[in-house]
Parts: sequence; structure tokens; C-alpha cells
Amino acid sequence: MSKAFGFVAYGGPETQEFLDRPVPVPGPGELLVAVHAAGVNPADWKVRQGLFGRKTPVPRVLGLEAAGVVQVLGEGVTGFVIGDPVFGPALGGAFAEHTLLAAAEAAEVPDDVSFAQAATLSVAGATAYDAVAQLGLEAGRTLLVLGVAGGVGSVAAQIAVARGVTVLGTASDQAREYVASLGATQVRYGEGVAERIRAAAPDGVDGILDLVGGEDARAAATTLRPGGRLVSTADQATAAGLGGEYVRRTRTSAVLAELAALVAAGAVDPHVSETFTLDRADEAMLAVESGHARGKVVVEIR
Ligand SMILES: NC(=O)c1ccc[n+]([C@@H]2O[C@H](COP(=O)([O-])OP(=O)(O)OC[C@H]3O[C@@H](n4cnc5c(N)ncnc54)[C@H](OP(=O)(O)O)[C@@H]3O)[C@@H](O)[C@H]2O)c1
Repeated sequence: MSKAFGFVAYGGPETQEFLDRPVPVPGPGELLVAVHAAGVNPADWKVRQGLFGRKTPVPRVLGLEAAGVVQVLGEGVTGFVIGDPVFGPALGGAFAEHTLLAAAEAAEVPDDVSFAQAATLSVAGATAYDAVAQLGLEAGRTLLVLGVAGGVGSVAAQIAVARGVTVLGTASDQAREYVASLGATQVRYGEGVAERIRAAAPDGVDGILDLVGGEDARAAATTLRPGGRLVSTADQATAAGLGGEYVRRTRTSAVLAELAALVAAGAVDPHVSETFTLDRADEAMLAVESGHARGKVVVEIR
């Protein structure tokens, strides 16, 4: 059997429980992985609340992304061997001693990247990568990231800065130094945000990555220069209302391998700010559900 952490009914944190499940068997194209680390994302509590994806039968194991070591190869898998350190989106839950990855969406963990770092790249890291690519800003342009201090924002800012883009990001005043460490300029969110953005970027911004939605997104959109683009991961309706687009996810091994190479080279740091052992997975969930996690929260299994 394999120990896991999940939920037994759709609802709040009180529905979360430790579960014992049989070690999963990889189907064609899948890898069985002994999980070392799993990234925690807002989508985890949204899934548990029934707000995200299909409400498949419970109990369900939480966690959408994992890094670990290949134990068994499913039929037809090429490019991986038993013992390889790998990471990718988890099929059927990542807060667990074992999980399955689709080989076509997994990548190898490079030598200089930890399992904890790799475990954060499939959801937040890859979303940041896709969003910056979708905006397509050239060097010298200005990007505004709404919610820059979280998992997606931290990586998006670093990728954009590395491409020569000037980055502003909304965050609380407590995150000012952290945001500066990403190479970006912090702007306090909430009432009056548009005026503060204009004070920092008098000519307006060329692109907006919206990770928070709501009133701040509407206010910030008024600072977009003509021809500027807005993409969002947070609020599809608001983004569409503002003439923007939802971030299109690529979900390929190639993007994950490129991200891992950027981390190995020191060009991107996913900023794992807190780690919790599997028996404290409930605390890891709470840290993200609070809405104020800095960088990434990770559950370490081994
Ligand atoms: N569609 C997709 O594929 C996809 C993928 C990944 C994420 N997402 C979504 O994108 C959003 C962001 O994800 P994430 O992983 O980056 O979240 P996260 O790591 O949980 O974000 C936490 C950060 O948000 C900041 N924050 C809270 N309220 C804010 C506000 N009103 N304005 C600006 N910053 C605020 C907090 O900073 P302070 O503590 O300083 O307040 C904290 O650092 C979520 O809605 C998530 O579900 C979608």
C-alpha cells in the first residue's frame, strides 16, 4: 500500500484525510514514480471545493505536480529508464508516496535542480512560462504582473526580466524586498492601484499578466498602452471583458525541460519558501489557501 493525503468529500479543509491506497499501476505511456516532492497550488483547494475540473468520485488524492524517481515503466514508454529522476503533472494525486506521470508530459530533473524545485515547475512554473510567451513582449517593454509574489508571478517576473523586459508587480508592502529580489518593482495592490502603477510607469504598460482578477484587473487594464495585451490565469470572465485572453497552457515535456534548464543555470529560482513533510500536508494546504504564500510551498515525501 501507499500512503497519500486527499479528501473524502467535496468541501472545506475538514474533508481532508490521510488515505492508504494500492501502489498505482502505470498504463501505456505512463511512469510509476516514488514521489520525493510535490508542489502545492491554489488549484488544490479549488479542486477540493469542487470549483475546478470535474467532480470525479471521492476519495481523491490531492496534489497536481510531482518530482521523484521512476520505479516502473508503462508499456511503450521510451526516453526514460528505471531510476531516472523525473518531474511532471501527476495523474491521480501527488501528495503520496507513489504517483503516475504521463511520460509525454514529464522531464528529467537536472543534476543542479532539487526535487523540491522541480516539483514546482509543472503548474506554476510552466504557467508563468506560457503566459510570458503568449504576451510576447520584446526587450525594453514593460510588463505588469498582478500578484507577482506568488508561485506563478515569481517565475514570470524572472523570465521576463531575463528577456530584458521591465517588470512591475502588485504585492503587499511586506513583499517589497522579495519583489525587488526578482528584479521587479513592487506596487501595492488594492484601492488606488491604477494611480500607483501610473506613478511607477508614467507612459503605461505594454502587457499585463493578471493572476488575481476582480477590481484590480479592471483598474490595472486602464494603464495598458494602445495595442497592449492582457492575459489572465485567475478570472476568465474579467479577462474577456477587458479584451484579454486566458493563458493557453502548452503542457509539454519540452517546456518543462527548458524551465528545468533555466533553474539549473541559475536564471530562474522558483523560490521554495516553505516545505512540509507528508504528515503535515494539511498545513501546506493551509499555507496556500491563505492566499499569501510567498513563492512556492512544497510537500516533501522522502
Ligand atoms: N490556468 C492555469 O493553468 C493556472 C495555473 C497556475 C495558477 N493559476 C491560477 O493563478 C492564480 C495565481 O496562482 P499562484 O500559484 O501564483 O498563487 P499563489 O502562489 O497562492 O499566490 C499567493 C500570492 O498572491 C499574493 N496576493 C494575494 N492577494 C493579492 C492581490 N489582491 N493582489 C496581488 N497579489 C495578491 C500574495 O501576496 P501578499 O502575501 O504579499 O499579499 C501571495 O504572495 C490562482 O488563481 C491560480 O489558481 C492558474
